[in-house]
Amino acid sequence: MDAVSEIKQKLDIVDVVGRYVSLKKAGKNFKGVCPFHTENTPSFMVSPELQIFKCFGCGESGDIISFIQKIEGIEFMNALEMLAERAGVKIEKNTLDPNTKLKKQIYYINELSTKFYHLLLTTHDLGKPGLDYLRKNRGLSDSTIKKFMLGYAPDTSNVITGFLEKRGLNREDLVLAGVSVKRGNSDYVDKFRGRVLFPLVSVDGKVLGFTGRTIINREPKYLNTNETLIFRKSSFLYGLDKAKLAIKKEGAVFVEGQMDVISAHQAGIENVIASSGTSLTTEQLKILARYTKDIIFCFDADSAGVSAVLRAIELGENMDFNVRAAVIPDGYKDLDEVIKKDPTTAKEVLNNSIPAYDFILLSVIKRYNKNSPEGKKKIMEEIMPWFSRIQNKVLIDHYSKQIAKELDLSQETVLSMFSDPGKSAEMASSDIQKSVFLSKQSLESYIISLLLKTELDTFREFAYKLNPEDFKNETLRGIFASLLKYRKESGEFIPNQFSEKLEDSSYREFFFDLYMWDHTDLLNDPTGLAREIRQVVSRIKRDSISQKMTLLTEQISIAEREKDDKRKTKLTKEFESLMQERASLENLSV
Ligand code: UTP
Ligand code: MN
Repeated sequence: MDAVSEIKQKLDIVDVVGRYVSLKKAGKNFKGVCPFHTENTPSFMVSPELQIFKCFGCGESGDIISFIQKIEGIEFMNALEMLAERAGVKIEKNTLDPNTKLKKQIYYINELSTKFYHLLLTTHDLGKPGLDYLRKNRGLSDSTIKKFMLGYAPDTSNVITGFLEKRGLNREDLVLAGVSVKRGNSDYVDKFRGRVLFPLVSVDGKVLGFTGRTIINREPKYLNTNETLIFRKSSFLYGLDKAKLAIKKEGAVFVEGQMDVISAHQAGIENVIASSGTSLTTEQLKILARYTKDIIFCFDADSAGVSAVLRAIELGENMDFNVRAAVIPDGYKDLDEVIKKDPTTAKEVLNNSIPAYDFILLSVIKRYNKNSPEGKKKIMEEIMPWFSRIQNKVLIDHYSKQIAKELDLSQETVLSMFSDPGKSAEMASSDIQKSVFLSKQSLESYIISLLLKTELDTFREFAYKLNPEDFKNETLRGIFASLLKYRKESGEFIPNQFSEKLEDSSYREFFFDLYMWDHTDLLNDPTGLAREIRQVVSRIKRDSISQKMTLLTEQISIAEREKDDKRKTKLTKEFESLMQERASLENLSV
């Protein structure tokens, strides 16, 4: 066992943190006043089951080692030494990192693979399909292909594995690097097949892993190197090595995909980076903070993209970035598509970015009818948790006017909600409320965090009333689906075991947050808990049904226009049954 695992096994995070922070038991977790920011009500949670800590006020989180690093202000190795001493674990000075040699080997494998795949793409017959795809379908020039060292992995099972083995590399190491996978007992095959490859390059120019996009329509569309000794996707920023100078000068543009980054560079927009396949993390933002405090989020135009921007805005705001958002014009999916059509338009899109708060207002208004009273109410409910955080008087005046104008309300009404005593009391009751995604305002997060803590009986009574499809947020939908499955299979809820069932590490982080959310008071009051869950479930269900009904209304009017009576009858029936379902919900919630 290496020193890190040994230390983690011997020490309990509750004891270690307990030396710095006075902790009180709160359900299965412990709670205290956060040592990393100033607060009056405790929102710093420690989980003995997961051996992690999380502050819902400032967002700091991590394990036993990162806690010591942060609180003592020291490097990883020094924290490790400190803890080793406490745990009575010996670490040899010169073999502090038992993996040094292996890491070197992995860097070497990645470097060779990058060159090999690139040569194959650019000079070899086997690379032709990849080269055609990048040139014709994606419009990339040869110099862009070279700049990003793009490659191609043919659709056969043993190209890179064979090549590297001939170079004397060990097969097990190829698996650890992530370029090969073991199939059966003794067969080693290439991980990437039929894909164009994007090397994932670190800030100092080393290849950490790869992302491969299929060119033959195979799932998944993008395949990434799993976490390895040298690659963690939650702290990786695609393109930072090439964008860092421009970012220092102009601030950063954050996009969703590798292709957006690459075409932006080709169009001469050089301050662009992507989080590539995870929702944005605090770790990524901490790295970015070394270069700039200005970010523009320019994510996909679909609803998943919009919720990703909202979440990103929240993280960015909490970490004191100046956050703006750029809106992809109608008819385009992402920045890549806009650039392909016309690079000048793309530059305008970025130049016309709007402040984060304007984006929030815009995207929420889009989802409701701002002319109806219910629409106005909904919009206000969704935006106020954001806007009521604003402290600056000028901004309060500005936005209360703007909101009043948009929704045709009086400025007094809006202003009163900026400082609604009921609301601010609720907000102040816990710092958790600072986070919109971890507040009761996000019913989807809230219900999952409650269901994670309930006894099996209560879970069974309510959880099956919801379908994963009722969740608008993609990550939450995924977590909820896994939760249903998990609780069907195992009676007891073991958080560590459950987190391993979540395939994606960004899901895991979100799950940790949800699990650490403190509901002790509610959980001690079973009747109150059941009432709360019932209400939240029926509200989510109602929202989901309303959304389906809106969609059906549109489809019905299309069928009508097209005089398709059969379809219209069918859709109308569906509509009626949804109406019934909604009515039965209303009975349930009273
Ligand atoms: P998109 O599907 O929006 O990618 O995913 P895209 O760039 O528009 O894809 P193209 O234009 O069809 O090639 C955005 C990003 O999410 C990650 C990838 O990093 C991708 O660039 N992703 C997407 C995955 O990791 N896996 C997937 O299956 C899909
Ligand atoms: Mn795209």
